[in-house]
Amino acid sequence: MISFIVIGHRAATTGDFKLDDIAGGAGRLDVLVRCVNSAFFLSHDIRREVVLHLCLSGGQDAPKTVRFSGGDIRYLNPDERSTASLIRNALLKKAPAEGEVRSSPGVYVSRMSFEDVVSQLSGRRFVYLREDGTDCREYDFPEDPVFVLGDDRDLTEEEESLLSATDPDRISIGPLSLHADHCIIVVHNEMDRRRA
Ligand SMILES: C[S@@+](CC[C@H](N)C(=O)[O-])C[C@H]1O[C@@H](n2cnc3c(N)ncnc32)[C@H](O)[C@@H]1O
Repeated sequence: MISFIVIGHRAATTGDFKLDDIAGGAGRLDVLVRCVNSAFFLSHDIRREVVLHLCLSGGQDAPKTVRFSGGDIRYLNPDERSTASLIRNALLKKAPAEGEVRSSPGVYVSRMSFEDVVSQLSGRRFVYLREDGTDCREYDFPEDPVFVLGDDRDLTEEEESLLSATDPDRISIGPLSLHADHCIIVVHNEMDRRRA
């Protein structure tokens, strides 16, 4: 399994935003929607082995996590609006106090924070994407990695310190600072090449 955690620092946690305004009123949800597309889409297929956690920290009902699971995902289309709609439907669902609830096949919502998700995945190898990390071309990707990255903002000091407790590997995917969704594509590409 390949997992990604993306932290949406200002991303909406209630479903009352307009699909025409995901970059504004929904707290840069557009960045996260593009991460969903990059994490899952191949030209004519879906990466079934991928799980993506969107940890949403903005809005009135934070924290929440929307989890996309490639193994059972349905109704995922490449256009951003329909992906935003899947997230909005998840946020309109009543998230339980404990555990998660399915809002559509392969999409789950919970009240988990970034810290909760990290703790739930403990035991796996965490890989922190940072511009100043080890060059990924010198890096042996583990079997079941959990990649962690920021949205349009880097991790806060508090988030970094939570993640540091897992002793993550820190990798850079190139000399320039890229958009989060582009980072996911590069990571997939590097892993694809080694598996080919
Ligand atoms: C758009 S960047 C965040 C802001 C960016 N650090 C800046 O100064 O403009 C989103 C996230 O992508 C990841 N990232 C961007 N470029 C990267 C690179 N070259 N290597 C590794 N991770 C990168 C980091 O996790 C970063 O938090």
